[in-house]
Amino acid sequence: MSRKKLNIGLFGFGCVGFGLYEVLDKTPGLKANIKNICVKDKNKAREIGAENFTFDKNDILNDDDINVVVELIDDADAAFEIVSAALKKGKAVVSANKKMVAEHFTELLELQREYNVPLLYEAACCASMPIIRNLEEYYDNDLLESIEGIVNGSTNYILTKTFAENLSYEEALKQAQDKGFAESNPILDTGGFDAKYKLLILLAHSFGYIANPTDIFNIGIDNIGGLELKYAREKGLKIKLVAQAFKGANGNLSAFVIPKFVGNEDRLFTVDDVFNGIITKTSFADTHFFVGRGAGAHPTASAVLSDISALSYDYRYEYKKIYQQEDLVLSNQVSLKVFLRHTKEEAESLKEYFDTIEESYVNNESGYITGNISLENLKTLQSQNKGERSFILLNIEKEKETAVHESLILA
Ligand SMILES: NC(=O)c1ccc[n+]([C@@H]2O[C@H](COP(=O)([O-])OP(=O)(O)OC[C@H]3O[C@@H](n4cnc5c(N)ncnc54)[C@H](OP(=O)(O)O)[C@@H]3O)[C@@H](O)[C@H]2O)c1
Repeated sequence: MSRKKLNIGLFGFGCVGFGLYEVLDKTPGLKANIKNICVKDKNKAREIGAENFTFDKNDILNDDDINVVVELIDDADAAFEIVSAALKKGKAVVSANKKMVAEHFTELLELQREYNVPLLYEAACCASMPIIRNLEEYYDNDLLESIEGIVNGSTNYILTKTFAENLSYEEALKQAQDKGFAESNPILDTGGFDAKYKLLILLAHSFGYIANPTDIFNIGIDNIGGLELKYAREKGLKIKLVAQAFKGANGNLSAFVIPKFVGNEDRLFTVDDVFNGIITKTSFADTHFFVGRGAGAHPTASAVLSDISALSYDYRYEYKKIYQQEDLVLSNQVSLKVFLRHTKEEAESLKEYFDTIEESYVNNESGYITGNISLENLKTLQSQNKGERSFILLNIEKEKETAVHESLILA
């Protein structure tokens, strides 16, 4: 099969955009050249000459020689305008923007169908790790039982540094930002939103389920404190921000992003620093484990490059599972075993939210409860948490036979 010649219009020349420029330069076999680059800030010093840049998106969108738009900007709303305009012009698009893809999944699906052009976004989910194409191509509709993993490199880096190297949360976040791992708006990472956007994309490609961001419950790492770290250390556990989706015994789908204590028997235990790891569980093959760098200029650019290369062979996502959808229902009727940290004053009042209580401890300032709680009650507790209860952390362990989830909350 002969490869198409690709003329690229690139949006964004930051961490990933410049990374792509370098990576493309070192990949002469790919018949792809960047014809024009659109950026925003007219006063910024650039690594390459000014003649390569434009500040007007229409210079790319209206250029008939450009057949591929690569969108690598940090503004999801502007990205959606650019991507939808490019698709309407019949240009293939590659994007790394998970927020945009997750928030506009159905519209983007329709645009691809209506204008018969592909949109690829491997880099939007776990950066260098090739998970979307694997989910899309390898797993048939009824094979997947669950998908679980660390999908945000920035928070995994922060958790690793605070846990293993005793860095303060602020220092670790600053390092993640300096290394180009973090989103421009850090709350997207630390609040678990970036992980949630990725989970939405994974849900569509693994189970054929298109969810709205508001459908999926997320807790981030920004409330994790010293008590949780101490608890984890004493028990030989690590804290990871874990996104997961699984089919329950009733056939319904559950999906959420919640920090989890993981023990050394869990494959995610060894996924540290900026790495991402995903475990898929299938009916007949048992588990598969994917691991790779979840952020950074060249790793992310390598996934963009892979999408560009795939376009040169006319590859597109077929969204088979969406079109074969078996009327899955997203359910909150799942029982989580949690560890809830609370203020001393709340020790008794929080117990009524639990179905069962295993352990309850209070000292002069704070305390914790371990026990089973429904996801519904957990969401209620989280929505009432205005900071007085300080931090919330959940640790989830799946009991294979019963599909009951063990979790920890620290509030
Ligand atoms: N960094 C990572 O490790 C990583 C990993 C996976 C996915 N991603 C995704 O990749 C995308 C880019 O991230 P990044 O880290 O490269 O961001 P970045 O370093 O902040 O760079 C953003 C770039 O976008 C440009 N830009 C912003 N708004 C624009 C607009 N309206 N029109 C044209 N250009 C615009 C900026 O222009 P100026 O240069 O003029 O300011 C800048 O060049 C994001 O969607 C992010 O979620 C990043």
